[in-house]
Amino acid sequence: MRVGLLGLGTVGSGTAKILLDPAHRHPLVGQIELAKVGVRSLDKPRSVAIEGDCLTTDLESIVADPTIDAVVEVMGGLEPARSLILKAIAHGKHVVTANKAVIARYGDEIFTAANQAGVYVLLEAAVAGGIPVIQPLKQALGVNRIHAVTGIINGTTNYILTRMQREGGDFEPILADAQRLGYAEADPSADVDGLDAADKIAILASLAFGGRIKLSEVYSEGIRQVTAADIAYAERLGFVIKLLAIARREGEFDESSDEALDQLQLRVHPTLVPVSHPLASVNDVYNAILIEGDPIGQVMFFGPGAGEGPTASAVVSDLLNLAANVRAGTTPQGTNPLLACSHQHYCKVSPMADIVSRFYVRLLAEDAPGVIGKLGTCFGRHQVSLESIVQIGQHETRAEIVIVSHEVTEAKFQTALDELRDYAEIHSVASVLRVL
Ligand code: NAP
Ligand code: HSE
Repeated sequence: MRVGLLGLGTVGSGTAKILLDPAHRHPLVGQIELAKVGVRSLDKPRSVAIEGDCLTTDLESIVADPTIDAVVEVMGGLEPARSLILKAIAHGKHVVTANKAVIARYGDEIFTAANQAGVYVLLEAAVAGGIPVIQPLKQALGVNRIHAVTGIINGTTNYILTRMQREGGDFEPILADAQRLGYAEADPSADVDGLDAADKIAILASLAFGGRIKLSEVYSEGIRQVTAADIAYAERLGFVIKLLAIARREGEFDESSDEALDQLQLRVHPTLVPVSHPLASVNDVYNAILIEGDPIGQVMFFGPGAGEGPTASAVVSDLLNLAANVRAGTTPQGTNPLLACSHQHYCKVSPMADIVSRFYVRLLAEDAPGVIGKLGTCFGRHQVSLESIVQIGQHETRAEIVIVSHEVTEAKFQTALDELRDYAEIHSVASVLRVL
């Protein structure tokens, strides 16, 4: 199988290194030939030696080359990545991509084109780097009815939150340090605002629940507003704070209606996770995905969510699958249902107002008789039942009060909070976080 590689940066270099050094790997790796490599600059120093005439800046010529069987897109960005993927498909080539941003936004267009052309588009590297989770969802876990996929799928934010927890530091200085150390990008918004995790959970949900997802329907909230104080209070209450990406099927399975099966919660936000939960101990840049289904129960995937070697491992695993499929030749091109993606309909996504969750809220209030009573009465009036309410300390002249609610809809909780904000005794609502 002859491969054209679009991009020779972090992931592209790792991919080339594996393909150029196949010893002691699966024998099929040695059958994959790196035919062409497309880059922006021919003069840039590279960590892997590519023969002179293989390297080109003409990426269009790679996707149109009739001798190339599969194109690996590891250049990143939306354009020209999307157009080159579509052109490769139109020329009858299989595609392997690590580009979650393109797949989450243009997956419908890309998979429709791939199905019509009879080729595969594989994306193991697009979610959680080196962790094999896409292929298990398509294959080994496919016999299960999936209830929920809950993940820590952004390494940058997990690194920042872990350091905030360990050092008691605030977000901004630790982000600056993470940028200096190369863990966070110069423009960190996609990671710290939850957008990267939203792209990834949209892809995982589509596979787990068998339908297309509109990215605009994935709620996302990042970690900029998480403070050292919240992390410390959460710890005292038995929680750690993690940026979770959650895809959950709502309600029970209804045998008589397929429609009901598609109602999903899709959300990314900082979350108080009980210390006993399996995701609570996933720290630093590591990723983990907890999948719950019937009859398997809970299964968790853990590992490196990014980096040259791990992500390249995922890219080459897709190439191996393609090579095996081409070699077996048992089904016509593009029709193996365990590799192809053939969803046509869109999943229904519940509005955030309907989501039921526990909440943590930190308030600054007058330190005066009756204030806690007023808070309890207000929440009660909006059917918000409280699990705990404690005056934790003083913040300048204000009392700092931390409340954890029982499960309640987002709509009821927010209505109660809006009313509280108008009370003369409430100085400010310092933070509101959801609790797993
Ligand atoms: P990168 O280091 O920035 O490399 C990008 C490569 O693509 C470079 O070789 C660059 O060429 C080439 N390129 C970009 N735009 C081009 C254009 N218009 N024309 C020609 N060549 C172009 O990126 P990366 O970190 O490897 O990431 C690649 C993809 O993998 C992204 O979609 C990313 O989200 C995804 N991913 C990355 C990781 C990770 O750990 N890095 C993990 C999971 C997924 P030059 O070298 O000549 O500049
Ligand atoms: N920027 C991503 C992260 C890695 O921090 O997890 C690539 O998906």
